[in-house]
Amino acid sequence: MLTVNNITFRYNTNSPFLINDFSFTAKKGDIVSVQGDSGTGKTTLLNIICGVIPKVFTGELTGTIHHDNIDISELSLPEVAPRISLLMQHPDNQLFFPTVEQELAFAPENLKVPVKDITLRIDEVLSRLNIENLKYKETTLLSFGQKKLITLASIITLSPEVYLLDEPFAGLSQEYIELISNEIKTQSENGKMIFVADHTEDIVQFANKTIEMGMLNEKH
Ligand SMILES: Nc1ncnc2c1ncn2[C@@H]1O[C@H](COP(=O)(O)OP(=O)(O)OP(=O)(O)O)[C@@H](O)[C@H]1O
Ligand SMILES: [Mg+2]
Repeated sequence: MLTVNNITFRYNTNSPFLINDFSFTAKKGDIVSVQGDSGTGKTTLLNIICGVIPKVFTGELTGTIHHDNIDISELSLPEVAPRISLLMQHPDNQLFFPTVEQELAFAPENLKVPVKDITLRIDEVLSRLNIENLKYKETTLLSFGQKKLITLASIITLSPEVYLLDEPFAGLSQEYIELISNEIKTQSENGKMIFVADHTEDIVQFANKTIEMGMLNEKH
């Protein structure tokens, strides 16, 4: 269970409130569509849920986020990631290693997964996303869409309970949009929670909950 309790946020005293007294509960298997025009705060909300705000980006934040009764403000970001993992809107902010294989090994290495199991996990996720051909590629040479797929693959190797996907379909062809949509459905069937911030209608068809960001900007 993920519980968002009375969140209010603005970046600074001169900027408007992006989120006003917002509460929300998600349970295992929920697919939550985070909708709203550009600038309404979709990325901001996802950053708050995983603790990037206020740990990396600061602002005036009140309210709490609990995952399975644990207050995430009491965890460090590396402690949050295996529970709640963020796919960033801009993949360059999330790629750190020279090759795809090294990139995908990083999270399970940190979790002390045995080396032979890491190899299995990497091969399995590359196969699921139909990108085995990218395994030995240099990360800097990937296209924007390929970078999105690799950052998605890297958070899948963490097997978090909650996925926060910020524009996961950006830069992807229709074929890949369908493939990632199916991956989201599979993760949901396996009891994961998935939040998806997206400009398009791709996610709305199979989300069972929706957060309308425009509504959260207003005082009520
Ligand atoms: N670090 C920051 N400091 C100050 N203001 C910020 C910061 N990050 C974002 N903002 C502002 O907060 C507002 C919401 O931004 P955010 O990126 O959350 O919107 P979004 O809904 O994700 O937009 P998009 O659909 O374009 O991705 C914007 O006005 C933006 O300029
Ligand atoms: Mg955004």
